[in-house]
Amino acid sequence: MSHEKLETNFPLMAALVAVVVAIGGLVEIVPLMYQAQVVKPLPGIEPYPPLQLAGRDVYVREGCYNCHSQMVRTLRYETARYGHYSLAGESVYDRPFQWGSKRTGPDLARVGGRYTDDWHRVHLLDPRAVVPESNMPGFPWLAENAVDAGLVEKKMRALQALGDPYSDEQIAAAATEVVGKTELDAVVAYLQALGKHAPKGG
Ligand code: HEC
Repeated sequence: MSHEKLETNFPLMAALVAVVVAIGGLVEIVPLMYQAQVVKPLPGIEPYPPLQLAGRDVYVREGCYNCHSQMVRTLRYETARYGHYSLAGESVYDRPFQWGSKRTGPDLARVGGRYTDDWHRVHLLDPRAVVPESNMPGFPWLAENAVDAGLVEKKMRALQALGDPYSDEQIAAAATEVVGKTELDAVVAYLQALGKHAPKGG
């Protein structure tokens, strides 16, 4: 009887549903904030070096994430194709993370080292020069744009303020590390480092 009352009383039912959903959410989300394995970087995972940091921002600006995920799921056919499934400790320095879900092209979480730098250069400028059936767009302007060294330094300082463990020396040296580099150099450096410190095996 009381159950019937509950189910026919719309505001009360809605309020109780909201309470139940909120509790469910808290139970799932709050422990994640305190779990060491979520917030602790895996061995070898460091804040991005200047050139890779610049490359990552080009990746975001160009919308590469619209076609590429960076998350290997815990499914057999995924690990057989890409390698070890992705772990939270790999992306502690990714702001924002690039996990994504849309895969017009392959997942890139483990692409580092799969091709040479030269392959990436040709592929980014004109994908069909190396993969004839590719429908990935070319990004020829990356070779013409210089990396803004001052901006890289500012970004590192901002990340340091947010808690990324950059040393002041690393930030001071950043500009000289990217001087004379193009956005193409930066994206290639970023891609080549993806998955480098992932656990081995499937
Ligand atoms: C419109 C969708 C689309 C966009 C946007 C896109 N890609 Fe791709 N990408 C693809 C497709 C499809 C492939 C597979 C064919 C090929 O290798 O060209 C691919 C392949 C790749 C590969 C080779 C992966 C492998 O394991 O063989 C890399 C690396 C890559 N893309 C990087 C990028 C980067 C970096 C950007 C942004 C600058 C980008 N892509 C933007 C669709 C896209």
